[in-house]
Amino acid sequence: MYPTRAYLFAHPAKHSLSPTMHNTALEHLGIAAQYEAKDVAPQDLQANLEALRTSGAWGVNLSIPHKETVLEFLDSITPEARAIGAVNTIVVKHNKLKGLNTDAPGFMQSLREAGLTEFADLEVVILGAGGAARGIVYALQQAEARVQIHNRTWKRAEVLATDFDAQALTDSDLRQAIKNCDLLVNTTSVGLENPNETPTIFLPKQGWVCDIVYKPLETKLLRDARATGLHSIDGLGMLVHQGALALEHWIGQPAPIEIMRSAAMKKLGY
Ligand code: ATR
Repeated sequence: MYPTRAYLFAHPAKHSLSPTMHNTALEHLGIAAQYEAKDVAPQDLQANLEALRTSGAWGVNLSIPHKETVLEFLDSITPEARAIGAVNTIVVKHNKLKGLNTDAPGFMQSLREAGLTEFADLEVVILGAGGAARGIVYALQQAEARVQIHNRTWKRAEVLATDFDAQALTDSDLRQAIKNCDLLVNTTSVGLENPNETPTIFLPKQGWVCDIVYKPLETKLLRDARATGLHSIDGLGMLVHQGALALEHWIGQPAPIEIMRSAAMKKLGY
């Protein structure tokens, strides 16, 4: 058994695709190390982070429910992760813990590889205002897209829009805003594990629809989009790229992206 050099801290942790993706990548690269998912309850997060300092580990990925609460336990945080308010990757160096966010650049990578490369003045509607939406709104704003946010709970959309100088959409504005946008992004969990559920029945007249859900890969939203001739982007790209970027920070060399993608697809049953 190789020594564990990287972890996922999550609660629950057992359904994650990250161990498969990272271990397949490490094996492919001939690096004698392994990545392990660890179920860490909220009250145990700090102790687990402290133990990392001298453990010889390269770092950790964080998932639900730790991405926001972890900030106070770190020695440094990149400006991007600070602005987003969430850390999904920690790098351990000289016994210090540095927090990064690879979800936001991973999301942008997934759009680019699908062929969406111009963001200045792109009209975007985001569905949802949770943790995942924050990184996505930040990344799109940085790329100079024009972002509007709709959420089931209006107050959360309003808070997120205010934080990032974006626009919050009311229920009655949603139809028109989606029709006229160039890119619609679902960041809600609607459609997760349910192929008949969609977060909205409205679709853009032209352009792109992205769903960050990857289980199933083709959600109803993406099926509807494809049926009307729109470009669609599923959630696997974001998953793979956030993982690849984290791995690159840890090992200091390019991650085998296609190997990681195939490993994740296989685990998903495709
Ligand atoms: P994450 O970190 O994955 O974004 P989250 O912070 O719990 O998770 O946010 C989940 C998002 O999905 C929220 O925008 C949530 O809407 P509310 O703020 O109104 O709760 C949205 N969501 C979850 N289930 C939903 C549903 N059935 N219909 C509409 N929106 C839903």
